[in-house]
Amino acid sequence: MNRFLEQTGVRYPIIQAPMGWIARSQLASAVSNAGALGIIESSSGDTAACRTEIEKMSALTDKPFGVNLALRFLADDAMLRFICDASNVKYVTTSAGSPKKWIKPLHDAGIVVYHAIGTVDLAMKCIDAGVDGLVVEGAEGGGFKAPEEVSTLVLLQAIREQTDLPMVAAGGIVDGRGMAAAFAAGAEAVQMGTRFVSSAESPVHQNFKQAILDAPTDGTLMLNKKSSPCYRTLKTERTAHFFDIGEFGPTDFGKITDLYFGGDMEASIALAGQSAGLIHDVKSAKTIIEDTVSQFHEIAGRMGAMAASSSF
Ligand SMILES: Cc1cc2nc3c(=O)[nH]c(=O)nc-3n(C[C@H](O)[C@H](O)[C@H](O)COP(=O)(O)O)c2cc1C
Repeated sequence: MNRFLEQTGVRYPIIQAPMGWIARSQLASAVSNAGALGIIESSSGDTAACRTEIEKMSALTDKPFGVNLALRFLADDAMLRFICDASNVKYVTTSAGSPKKWIKPLHDAGIVVYHAIGTVDLAMKCIDAGVDGLVVEGAEGGGFKAPEEVSTLVLLQAIREQTDLPMVAAGGIVDGRGMAAAFAAGAEAVQMGTRFVSSAESPVHQNFKQAILDAPTDGTLMLNKKSSPCYRTLKTERTAHFFDIGEFGPTDFGKITDLYFGGDMEASIALAGQSAGLIHDVKSAKTIIEDTVSQFHEIAGRMGAMAASSSF
């Protein structure tokens, strides 16, 4: 049993990524019921809805799940207090801001805290602040990204050179191949966003799922590289325009719920990772998780046999 499994009590070391409006109880409960860790988001900033989603989880699953506190999007500490009082939340990832003042109250409530980082420097600051682990997010991943653009595999190895803290690998992982690579680089769990957005239980419109299935590995763009956060999105007319002009501000965002749930792919920016190029079908969360685990075991077994036979 690895440390992530011990800390969370889940069967499989796989997390469904936090994604504004999408990572809610329908998707998160399907993931948790399949033995991995569903996460409820807070980056939508709609804390009332997110709290309701956390409450709903008790009726939908008796398995562990987590909550992401997207610090920049939380107007006050009401969500923090709610989570500390919630008996069903034992694992929190923090992101988009310094976790420093949030760690003690969460620890006092018996909650394990991982912080999402995209650079080695930020990882070191979070370790000093007392996090229990890190979500290591490489630039190939979808959604909010660090402008420094370091890949998942390089970040994992560089951080492992500095610390023994548990790491969850995020960015570019859709199956057991990516999971095996991440574990070889020091991860103890993987987090998948784009893969779960295109799952059967994901609440997004079929147009968005289809756009992910259709995207090649070079079908994404990084917007807003001059600032933080920048965003990895699918290539669309809207994103190509902002990519070409090199700037992208909050008012250029459009209405993302019209894209996610209305299926209008030009209404906003379609957040997705390079991993879209590896996704070829919509599968249930359970199938995604089971396929990932069996492929991981098959690869690990093959590599173990290779090492045992000393064939090179
Ligand atoms: C559709 C979508 C929406 C996302 N929304 C958010 C978000 O609201 N906040 C955030 O911190 N990260 C967001 N992300 C990033 C994910 O949490 C995760 O780090 C990323 O998806 C991992 O890379 P992958 O897509 O290659 O699996 C989003 C990603 C996707 C694909």
